[in-house]
Amino acid sequence: MTSYKIEFAPIQGYTDFIYRRVHDHIFHGVDTYYTPFLRLPQRNKDIKDVSILHNDMNRVVPQIIGGNAHEMAVLTQGVYDLGYRHLDVNFGCPFRMITLKGKGSGSFKDVPRMGQLLDFPSDMAVSLKVRLGYDNPRQIMELMPWINAIPLRSVTVHARLGIQGYKGDVDMDAFQSVYDACEHPLYYNGDVNSTDEGVAILDRFPKLAGLMIGRGLLADPALADKIKVALDLRDGLAQVISWNDEEQQSLYRQFHTELFNEYSAYLEGGDHQILQKMQTLWAYFLPSTDKKVLKMIKKCTKLDKYRSICSSMKLL
Ligand SMILES: Cc1cc2nc3c(=O)[nH]c(=O)nc-3n(C[C@H](O)[C@H](O)[C@H](O)COP(=O)(O)O)c2cc1C
Repeated sequence: MTSYKIEFAPIQGYTDFIYRRVHDHIFHGVDTYYTPFLRLPQRNKDIKDVSILHNDMNRVVPQIIGGNAHEMAVLTQGVYDLGYRHLDVNFGCPFRMITLKGKGSGSFKDVPRMGQLLDFPSDMAVSLKVRLGYDNPRQIMELMPWINAIPLRSVTVHARLGIQGYKGDVDMDAFQSVYDACEHPLYYNGDVNSTDEGVAILDRFPKLAGLMIGRGLLADPALADKIKVALDLRDGLAQVISWNDEEQQSLYRQFHTELFNEYSAYLEGGDHQILQKMQTLWAYFLPSTDKKVLKMIKKCTKLDKYRSICSSMKLL
């Protein structure tokens, strides 16, 4: 089995504890899942999302976002008190309401102040999720001496600037500079949407610890498994690839059915809320689905109708 790791990126609104748990149950290629960020003031739904009743602490890392040392300390302590000894810090969020407060990628507007936020309990394994900067890729290089000076479990770099949001080109040259300078296990993140793209990144940057993937996994929940199989085949660690259409379809069906059942059991807002949750999933899920069918799913207003569309697609 390849030694490269694949991590499931946190995605607010999608990778909640039910999603993570079901994904982990059906697919096997992801090594670590991250919670969407926790912030102050804490929201009930975020507290539930990190509850140890719902999460395997060996597989799930809570993520926090803060704009000053006090916020960082409160959030870190909260996660620590729950029993987690792993923590991820978000220095990447591009949303204006966050960056205006000097949080997420907005932290890069003042790199020395950001460096001072990097102070964590010694028995906490901390990872950072960063961008190349807020509006200039030199910002990550300015922060690098601070990053290299503290003990970290890993650093994940989304190879874009905060001002780009989630669109526009990833900057592989700027990522190369980080790759050359970073002394911690490093993960690449950004636009890995296919097996070939994943393998190509690891070929170009062989010393990476692995990849963090978000939207590519939401679109194809088997992507991490596929990348690992491809790496094993290439390295002669596996000989047969068994991704035939029927087996794949059966995994997607199990995944979708289990998600549907778990959300139906957990959500208390009735059919409408379940339908909304499932429609949100389809913003990314199986994008090669017939466009007319996708439109029917997105427009449908009754849960029964949703069920019948999905059963005609052999997904329920
Ligand atoms: C809707 C949405 C919500 C996100 N929420 C978070 C979050 O809570 N924490 C975080 O670190 N990144 C968040 N991200 C960023 C992703 O984790 C990831 O870095 C980004 O999507 C790029 O990777 P990808 O191209 O593999 O998706 C979010 C992205 C999207 C599109």
